[in-house]
Amino acid sequence: MLKLTKVSKIYEGKVAYRALTDIDLEIEKGEFVAIMGPSGSGKTTLLNIVSTNDTPTTGEVTIEGEKPHKLKKNALAKFRRNELGFIFQDFNLMHTLTVEENIVLPLTLDGTRVREMKEKVHKIAKSLGISTIMKKRTYEISGGQAQRVAIARAMIHDPKLLLADEPTGNLDSKASNDVMKMLVAINEAEKTSLLMVTHDAQAASYSDRVIFIRDGKLYSEIHRGESRQAFFQKIIDMLSLMGGDGNDLSSVRV
Ligand SMILES: Nc1ncnc2c1ncn2[C@@H]1O[C@H](COP(=O)(O)OP(=O)(O)OP(=O)(O)O)[C@@H](O)[C@H]1O
Ligand SMILES: [Mg+2]
Repeated sequence: MLKLTKVSKIYEGKVAYRALTDIDLEIEKGEFVAIMGPSGSGKTTLLNIVSTNDTPTTGEVTIEGEKPHKLKKNALAKFRRNELGFIFQDFNLMHTLTVEENIVLPLTLDGTRVREMKEKVHKIAKSLGISTIMKKRTYEISGGQAQRVAIARAMIHDPKLLLADEPTGNLDSKASNDVMKMLVAINEAEKTSLLMVTHDAQAASYSDRVIFIRDGKLYSEIHRGESRQAFFQKIIDMLSLMGGDGNDLSSVRV
């Protein structure tokens, strides 16, 4: 459902910087893929290109048979609304709105009928265990709850591809595992494809496949087998093999 062909990114500036080189990547419908690599290796750049927030310098991105970077502004906005969902490390919620208002925001922009919105919100809030906090403001809830609200907002459109940049980066170990379990549940129930950048081997071990990038190039990939614990160990081993800046292992939880 997602295909990257020889995607490269050069940031122009006083000194041009090559952030990605010839990335080939294919993700199937319903697949959950994690991207790992040292700080500065190009993970966010890659995610920004897939999310169409940035354009590749060369190469091609295809999502569900469409080439979003070739679409005109309005068609692209519609494509993003219909096909993509986004989750960020800092949740990106609107602090002047309640939890419920944050979740329905994408639908109100769409002009969906109020009754239909209520039904959708109710269903998704229940599945994420946040029904009791719907009237609260975003500063009255915990980090783990905030990330679940962000997931609800990202899922309210039933996107085909969910993109997450360090979704557990600001969460403690318990909240992080809760969020990962919910992402897996969504991935399995809705067949939503998932592409997640993370430094956290524990979070990555919930995926079907981890792709490692270093210096803007694909370095390696490993698939999950039967056991998540064994997968976790393989991820740790790969991280230490590829080295990095130390930052990667500081966030490892065992
Ligand atoms: N807008 C930009 N202009 C110029 N260079 C940039 C820009 N954004 C990122 N870079 C550079 O591109 C490289 C990759 O950055 P990127 O943000 O993709 O790394 P990352 O793997 O997400 O790192 P981290 O784990 O720290 O989030 C870095 O060397 C960064 O300095
Ligand atoms: Mg990043």
